[in-house]
Amino acid sequence: MEKILDIITEKMQQAFEKAGYDPSFGRVTVSNRPDLCEYQCNGALAAAKQYKCAPIQIAKAVAEQLDKSDYDMCEAVMPGFLNLKLSGAFLAAYLEEMRTQEDFGVQKIGQGKTIVVDYGGANVAKPLHIGHLRPAIIGEALKRLYKFLGYNAIGDVHLGDWGLQMGLIIAELQEREPGLPYFDQGFTGEYPKEAPFTVTDLEEIYPTASAKKADPEFSSKAHQATLELQQGRRGYRALWRHIMNVSVADLKKNYDNLDVHFEKWLGESDADPYIPAMVEDMKNRGIAVQSEGAWVIPVAEEGDKKEVPPCILVKSDGSAIYATTDLATLVQRMQDWNPDKVLYVTDKRQNLHFEQVFRAARKAGIVKPETELEHVGFGTMNGKDGKPFKTRDGGVLRLEQLIADMTDFVRAKVVENQIVEEDQVEATTAKIAMAALKYGDLSNQPTKDYNFDMERFAAFEGNTGPYILYTIVRVKSILSRYGAWEALPIQTPANPFAKELMIAITKLGPTLEAALRSSSPNLICAYIYELAGCVNKFYHETRILSEEDETLKAGYISLIGLAKNVLEQCIYILGFSAPEKM
Ligand code: ARG
Repeated sequence: MEKILDIITEKMQQAFEKAGYDPSFGRVTVSNRPDLCEYQCNGALAAAKQYKCAPIQIAKAVAEQLDKSDYDMCEAVMPGFLNLKLSGAFLAAYLEEMRTQEDFGVQKIGQGKTIVVDYGGANVAKPLHIGHLRPAIIGEALKRLYKFLGYNAIGDVHLGDWGLQMGLIIAELQEREPGLPYFDQGFTGEYPKEAPFTVTDLEEIYPTASAKKADPEFSSKAHQATLELQQGRRGYRALWRHIMNVSVADLKKNYDNLDVHFEKWLGESDADPYIPAMVEDMKNRGIAVQSEGAWVIPVAEEGDKKEVPPCILVKSDGSAIYATTDLATLVQRMQDWNPDKVLYVTDKRQNLHFEQVFRAARKAGIVKPETELEHVGFGTMNGKDGKPFKTRDGGVLRLEQLIADMTDFVRAKVVENQIVEEDQVEATTAKIAMAALKYGDLSNQPTKDYNFDMERFAAFEGNTGPYILYTIVRVKSILSRYGAWEALPIQTPANPFAKELMIAITKLGPTLEAALRSSSPNLICAYIYELAGCVNKFYHETRILSEEDETLKAGYISLIGLAKNVLEQCIYILGFSAPEKM
């Protein structure tokens, strides 16, 4: 569906033309004086300069040409503004179309386009910690947004499954259990199907090994193991498979709990086969040059405000690094999916890394000139006190623990207020906790740091996830008391609150598009907060179920039903859902 602003701009342009002026002056914007009007056009002021006459004269002539049935008010006011209020009939017709079209008639701007969203970024053998919350939540929301707007969106977790961390684990296991067949170079039999460790073991093994990095002897063993693993040593590959299976199963479970789902579970190891040919080619074409024994890609550009150091492709010891993997991953993605865009969601401390990788990829022609590469670098989630989040003993808080804390906090409220039957407590709690957690995060502009405040995020009032859920549940309850409502048509607004609600609903498409273009799910949060506010105001000011005029009542019901569906669609994109009762 065409956006309201576009429709009324077109009509305004025709009116300018009919009145004898250049139609390009007819641009309409949302009013910056909502107390006076809903939309406005300032074109007469600019036109006056060209036509050398008073702006008000032009505005009046244009107003004459507007179709009065579209507006409750279309006024030329001094010095030459055109103030507009849409008519109820116009709004009702527009909303009825939204109600009856698929996906509310939102324009599918991504039709035929493919995007890869690289988010999550978990590292194998390390439990998810709170640093993994933001990439999971923001990435999932952006991916769902792209999907809803028509893109073929491929979410890829891009596991950290190939570097030194693997060598560290292998070296540590060898010290503990040297007798395992994986370490016997002469072993030619089949390796056991079962891993020689559990995920809990791994969670202890990895930090222990990591702490030993300072020990030169252990460190060199770990580096050697990493190299041999990458070169294909059979026993190490088998051990690596075990680490992967055990760890990925656990990661999947954790992401599932967050309602975060990846289309692809690829990782750094999957990019490895692409590295040799890519490096060879870059050397041959002079894209990569030698510098102090390493191979680098110079990526500084004229006009850089900050120094952008060369992108290191191969270190002096011959090993590949983070940037090499990201470039090779792009080779794989272009080859397999030919995306129009690749979007990365990571901590903003990786800004420079991605700047270098993007420039190198363009320079080497790994992506097409028109392929969009974007990095969404998000800020840090701090504790309530604004300081980095730490456990009581100073450690890193596990994601599982954070979710458990939020869940406990919400459960206590649910139980205390006797919100639902006993057998519904857990399911309802889980939904509210997820809304609190995700909305608390997503309502902030991604690039900004924010403070994690459980009490505030979980409050049922204010700008919170639970408040949005509460609004949806309230409407659901009215609808269920009314009966079948899905087929009821939208009617002209019966009061100003209905009208305000209707105007809010029409902003769905423009909001989603703006959120996509600026990678800002926070715009969707702001939108549903406004929309929920309009729903509640309408609810308080209007007798809905007790309305005696059945036609009027049906109109009210249809309107709040549509509002509820829009809210539910938006929270689906944000990654949470509403319970039946709250
Ligand atoms: N595993 C990485 C980390 O822990 C994040 C990966 C992000 N994605 C990427 N393509 N580099 O920092």
